[in-house]
Amino acid sequence: QAATPARNNGTTLPYPKKAVGAAKRMPVNEVVSFTYPDASSPCYAIRMGNAVPGGVGPNNDIVAFSAYCTHMGCPVAYDGGTRTFKCGCHFSIFDPENGGQMVCGQATEDLPKIRLEYDAKTDAVSAVAVDGLIYGRQSNIL
Ligand code: FES
Repeated sequence: QAATPARNNGTTLPYPKKAVGAAKRMPVNEVVSFTYPDASSPCYAIRMGNAVPGGVGPNNDIVAFSAYCTHMGCPVAYDGGTRTFKCGCHFSIFDPENGGQMVCGQATEDLPKIRLEYDAKTDAVSAVAVDGLIYGRQSNIL
């Protein structure tokens, strides 16, 4: 007799799948705001215009990150001129073309990455998980 799969009785809920936008309609080098994995967690998706590590979409150029700086949680802002996220509180800088890597400043960790999926049939980009701990949380989903 086949064993019954064990139920997951953990306290961590699975990540919801959430639509972010249509890949081909996303502006290049500008952020698209959304929240993930819940309404109190602002995030930015960005279509870089060139393929980047971890990028999704027809050109593998769309990535997304938490908008909260990993130093003390201030919201970061995207600077299209330098193609970086900058934190105005203590001047940390993060590189979206390299996985949200911390470039300089007070932060010691990269921006949490929002894992994305792309459906080529519908052109839909969806958020499906978070890699890294969002600032101020003990876990990303309670
Ligand atoms: Fe961003 Fe301090 S909160 S550098």
